[in-house]
Amino acid sequence: MTTKHAAIDSDAGEIVGVSQALAGILEQVRAVATTGATVLIFGETGVGKELIARRIHDESRRCRGPMITVNCASIPRDLFESEFFGHVRGAFTGATRDRVGRIEAADGGTLFLDEVGEIPVELQGKLLRTLQHLSFERVGEDRTRQADVRFIAATNRNLPQETSAGRFRLDLYYRLSVFPIEVPPLRARSEDITTLAHHILSQLAARSGRAERGLSAAQVRHLHAYEWPGNVRELKNVLERAFILSGDGPLRLDLGLPASALSSAGRASTIPERLPMPAQGFFTASEFEQLERQNLIGVLEAAHWKISGQGGAASLLGLKPSTLSSRLKVLNIQQPEPASLYSRLGGHKAIATFAHDIFGRVLADPLLSRFWAHRSTIGILREEQLFIAYLSSVSGGPAKYPGRDMKSAHRGLGISPADWEAFRGHLRATLESLAVAPRERQEITDFAQGLRSEIVSDA
Ligand code: HEM
Repeated sequence: MTTKHAAIDSDAGEIVGVSQALAGILEQVRAVATTGATVLIFGETGVGKELIARRIHDESRRCRGPMITVNCASIPRDLFESEFFGHVRGAFTGATRDRVGRIEAADGGTLFLDEVGEIPVELQGKLLRTLQHLSFERVGEDRTRQADVRFIAATNRNLPQETSAGRFRLDLYYRLSVFPIEVPPLRARSEDITTLAHHILSQLAARSGRAERGLSAAQVRHLHAYEWPGNVRELKNVLERAFILSGDGPLRLDLGLPASALSSAGRASTIPERLPMPAQGFFTASEFEQLERQNLIGVLEAAHWKISGQGGAASLLGLKPSTLSSRLKVLNIQQPEPASLYSRLGGHKAIATFAHDIFGRVLADPLLSRFWAHRSTIGILREEQLFIAYLSSVSGGPAKYPGRDMKSAHRGLGISPADWEAFRGHLRATLESLAVAPRERQEITDFAQGLRSEIVSDA
């Protein structure tokens, strides 16, 4: 392993690569592993979501406890409850003895819910309750049991879209996605393809006791030209097939790759489909401006607020520095003070994670969720954006808040002192789960308390 080369060893396999994208994921894994927060890993099939989950478990305080995996897609619908919660003898035909469910089996460890998007909607409420209270009943038994479990979920589905279609509960989505980690498809981190291919080939050679096979320049080009819809899993399969079919001769990649990959048509599209598409098919002028603002803040933070010159934001964007500067002026984006709360928290990404976490907890709270009960998913996502913009602005971020003042936003909602206490509980839990440092934690808590009289009705 070289210093540039990130590799994760685990029983289940390894994650190998040199890309920035992978380094970023590993950083997120490291940050969240010890917190105990629920993690939602999303990405296409074959990208290695289970390896990420395994790594989080291994780096957590629960590493000595069990990591239990449930493939939610493969459990028969009518056995779901028994699988998760266990059953007692005689609970149903065929239940000849007591059985411990997966949640109980994961006590003291981690429960990995693979393909969580496949859980039938009628059971999602039960799972949500278990996530919230860590209590459950075995099928056929009245006794409520407790388990100390950390949840990690993974899905290749677009869960926000699933919630809009009524196939996935919004409150469960928010509860699961406390800390989302996106694993990009292999085509979006193509720098990893060659490293991965060499790694897989040397594993194949070691396992079979045959000589190691190299890759010719043309073969590397073919590997890079292919789209890899099945991601790392497909790369593994292709190389294994080629390896087996090549016998003792040079590697016959042509025997492993699908025919389309060997023609120039192999790369169907090079545009990553990562832009969030609005429901109506277009962005309004103000949404577009918001998108541009976020993009500019993103690139400026990546370039450490350097505008011109090598590695500056203008060259990263492919713009003239003067063009960038004039956009920043129009959008009123200014570099935040390094001493500001915004900078100390870690900038836009950290604020967005914070907002997503607390907003998710609030929405999943049975008391507070009534405030959003009649709102659409898109409406709720928009509110989360407003919340991020507000938090950025008041903590000294690069742009001013474009929305309403707090009093008029919350006037007439009837937010009671009990609601406020519940909100404070979620704030505390968020600060804890994201391991916010004591000084910043105090500032945020004090700031929220200062807003109480503007938000709570009878204060
Ligand atoms: C119990 C606590 C709270 C509840 C139940 C609550 C509820 C709501 C609801 C229902 C809205 C939408 C109002 C509308 O569209 O008419 C809203 C807007 C908003 N809330 Fe809260 N809120 C709470 C606390 C807070 C706190 C502490 C903050 C800031 C730190 C905050 C920031 C915002 C922002 C920025 C908006 C959008 C305002 C705009 O339209 O520009 N909320 N809140």
